[in-house]
Amino acid sequence: MSRSRTRRVVVIGGGANAEHEVALAGATGVAKALCSTGFEVDELTIGRDGVWRQGSGALGARPADSLAAALSIIERADAVFPVVHGPNGEDGTLAALCALASVPVVGSGVRAGAIGMDKWMTKLVAQAVGIATAPGRLITGIADVRFESQVAVKPVSAGSSYGVAVARDADELRAALADAARYDDRILVEDVIAGREIDVAVLQEADGHTWAAPALEIHADGLFDTRTKYDGSARFTVPAVLTDADRTALTDAALRLFDALGCAGLARIDFFLTEDGPVLNEVNTMPGMTPESQVPKMFAAAGVPYEQLIARLVDTAAIPG
Ligand SMILES: Nc1ncnc2c1ncn2[C@@H]1O[C@H](COP(=O)(O)OP(=O)(O)O)[C@@H](O)[C@H]1O
Ligand SMILES: [Mg+2]
Repeated sequence: MSRSRTRRVVVIGGGANAEHEVALAGATGVAKALCSTGFEVDELTIGRDGVWRQGSGALGARPADSLAAALSIIERADAVFPVVHGPNGEDGTLAALCALASVPVVGSGVRAGAIGMDKWMTKLVAQAVGIATAPGRLITGIADVRFESQVAVKPVSAGSSYGVAVARDADELRAALADAARYDDRILVEDVIAGREIDVAVLQEADGHTWAAPALEIHADGLFDTRTKYDGSARFTVPAVLTDADRTALTDAALRLFDALGCAGLARIDFFLTEDGPVLNEVNTMPGMTPESQVPKMFAAAGVPYEQLIARLVDTAAIPG
């Protein structure tokens, strides 16, 4: 790829949340890809303690002064590529930082990041645009939840399946609520949906047009849990084998939701494919980005190799507004 000038990209990885490790791996992949296509790259990492680092060196003793030092690196960038999942990253906070600093950033702005990170709000938006979601209720604070039938329990804002469980009796429900409460004080209790797990990746190109890569099926034995996600045992089929009707329904729903949330750049929208069609599971506005992650696999199936996908995403960077 030839470029008229070297462009400087700041890649941010890590994050002060449970998904720190996978975000480090994604950021390393993105930084390598950018270097190989001629970008100049500065890698910044947010520690689990909230302190910003460059390489192995902390940029300050505390989050605030390290952030001040990080900002002086960020302000020199032509674009910021945040590969941070979960709270204080994917939830719009890093987009907000770039908006305030007037630096273009890859991915969704504040609103779509915040709503996409909130599984309850996402459901409300999806329902409003005619996309089915798992029937469920929101538990806040101390609530007496009676067991009636098996349910999926999950924190409203988390990721990588942390705090997610299916409860089959009252004891499991109590344990699942306690575990979910470690990640968020708002908890979703949902019907368990029987269906294939299908992910759809949406890319919004620099010219604004939006398209979906061929869908991916996850073959998980029951819940797609944290261990299966990262121990290399996850099995994916890309492209997923789908009828034309199912493919169209999934793609339409993904594009409609991307639009309704006002996402930008990239999102991975995850569904259960049931006998009655797609049921939305969740939206990831900064999905896993290692070369082995679902999104790069889906774009590879669309003829866009990893390095090219990452370079095209940099082209979409904009100052959130
Ligand atoms: N309502 C549900 N019915 C059946 N399985 C579910 C349900 N909600 C979540 N799961 C399972 O749990 C996994 C993780 O839940 P998800 O909401 O995607 O959380 P995360 O944001 O941590 O990935 C899903 O990939 C799926 O396997
Ligand atoms: Mg998920």
